[in-house]
Amino acid sequence: MATKLSTRAILLSLFLGLAVFTGKPVATHGGGTKDAVADKVRKIVATAIQDNPGVGPALIRLLFHDCWVQGCDGSVLLDGSKTEKAAKNNIGLDGFAVIDEIKAKVGEDVSCADIVVLAARDATFIVSRGKIDYNVTMGRMDGVKSSAAAADAVLPPSTFNITQLNANFAAKGFNTRELVALSGAHAVGVAHRSSFQDRLDNATATPIVPKYRKALTDDVEKQKKLQGTQDPIEPNNIRDKELAFRNASGYDDTGVDTSKAARGVLDNSYYHANLQNKVLFRSDWELRNDTTGVAGGVMATFEANANKWFLQFGNAMAKLSKLPAEGTRFEIRKNCRKNN
Ligand code: HEM
Repeated sequence: MATKLSTRAILLSLFLGLAVFTGKPVATHGGGTKDAVADKVRKIVATAIQDNPGVGPALIRLLFHDCWVQGCDGSVLLDGSKTEKAAKNNIGLDGFAVIDEIKAKVGEDVSCADIVVLAARDATFIVSRGKIDYNVTMGRMDGVKSSAAAADAVLPPSTFNITQLNANFAAKGFNTRELVALSGAHAVGVAHRSSFQDRLDNATATPIVPKYRKALTDDVEKQKKLQGTQDPIEPNNIRDKELAFRNASGYDDTGVDTSKAARGVLDNSYYHANLQNKVLFRSDWELRNDTTGVAGGVMATFEANANKWFLQFGNAMAKLSKLPAEGTRFEIRKNCRKNN
């Protein structure tokens, strides 16, 4: 079907297309390019994270989950019982209210897909305390299709092994180094018990440090009561657990900032945890099983050199933000939750 666009949207996309063609960045955090839209987004994201620090990781994950499925097209934002939001692999996905807030401020000329990209860029900058900065361009359009089945077919589940992870990333043009770099996002945020239960069960457990496994199993039982649910959340990063938990797990915090102020900060501590086999997901642990030695080597580099990871994570996020939309019909949505 032919693309249906209003004259206004065509003019806008031509303008923005030119911006992309010339490689003009939307804005740099250093304050180089002044862009009103980018400024508005940055302010809203900063306030939202200040009010609720969980918003930062949520927005970072949202970029991955939007762009991995049919490219960066805002399809993850569409409401519906069978849309991407209903996908099993989208459990816990969040940040939608912030996207709505941004949309209300930037107006009808900015696509929801662009908002996801800008918000993730700002969240990354803020949560990493300014250590990870990358430029993005604008001009994306919103797709009109969103399917839970399509999302579950391409988003990697936490139970994937290294062969499956490599194949999943290769299908999108990402190599093992980029897989390892992007997995470092699991330094922040939370996960539901059901996303790592396989690591705790006797039958399916991948080798996991027994002390960590016990501490986690005990804590999950505690959290079930505290949170009043059979599927409570735990922080992804052992760094963000209290001292008693870290000690009980035998966590070696050499080289990791475990001060209260460092909790929830996006840094290279994921690699410290992973190389000690104290990570939640099988997919994290599997990075140690790459028989080519590439993933292991990259993890050791990132563990030893935070700056290298900051740079490569930023590069991979910028690349993620460029995954082209795959649909045939596009628009700029008025409301990010539904098609026009
Ligand atoms: C390599 C394959 C990946 C797998 C299998 C995976 C899996 C998961 C799972 C299961 C969760 C927890 C969901 C829940 O139970 O609530 C999660 C959380 C998260 N993931 Fe991933 N992920 C992967 C890659 C990525 C990438 C590439 C990024 C970003 C660049 C990312 C960023 C995050 C963040 C920030 C969270 C925490 C979200 C929050 O607290 O709201 N993940 N991931």
